[in-house]
Amino acid sequence: MKQIDITTTLTQYDSLEALSKEVQLLFKKAIEARKKAYAPYSRFQVGAAILLNNKQIVTGNNQENAAYPSGMCAERVAVWNAYSQFPENTITKMVITATSLNKKVTAPIPPCGACRQTLSEYEINQKSPIKIYFMGEIGAVYKVDSLKALLPLMFDNSVL
Ligand code: THU
Repeated sequence: MKQIDITTTLTQYDSLEALSKEVQLLFKKAIEARKKAYAPYSRFQVGAAILLNNKQIVTGNNQENAAYPSGMCAERVAVWNAYSQFPENTITKMVITATSLNKKVTAPIPPCGACRQTLSEYEINQKSPIKIYFMGEIGAVYKVDSLKALLPLMFDNSVL
C-alpha cells in the first residue's frame, strides 16, 4: 500500500491592477459579458473571456433555464463559442469573473467540475496549456498555468 499525494500550484494576485494589460483587457471583456448573463434564478452572474492564439477574444456568460439543469455555465458557453467559430485556433488564456445580486463576491470563483472536464478536452487536443485566471467581483485573482492544475487525475481519451 502506498499513499500518492498530488499537489497543485496557483498564483495569487492581490488585485486586477497587478496583472498585465492584456489580462486586464480580458477581464474587462469578461465583466461586460457577465453583465449580460441570464441568471434570474441563481442571481449569480458569471462572465468568461477567452484569448485565442490569433489574438481574437471570445466571451461567454451563464444562461439559466426554468428547468434548472438545462442552463449552462459561462465557461462552457465561452469555450464552445470559441471553438465553434475558430476550430483551427488554440486557446491561450481564459479569465472568469462572477458577481451575485445576493451578496458581494469577494473570493476567486473557479470553474465548476463539468467546465474543467470540458476545458480538458480542448487543452489536450490543442497540445498547449491554457492559462486560467479567476476572481469574484473584487479582490484577489488566482491564476493557474494549465487546466491540469485544476483537474488532477483527469479522465481523458487516452483510456478509451
Ligand atoms: N456557474 C457558472 O457559470 N460557472 C461556474 O463555474 C459555476 C456556476 C453558473 C451556473 C448557474 O447559472 C450559476 O452560476 C449558479 O450556479
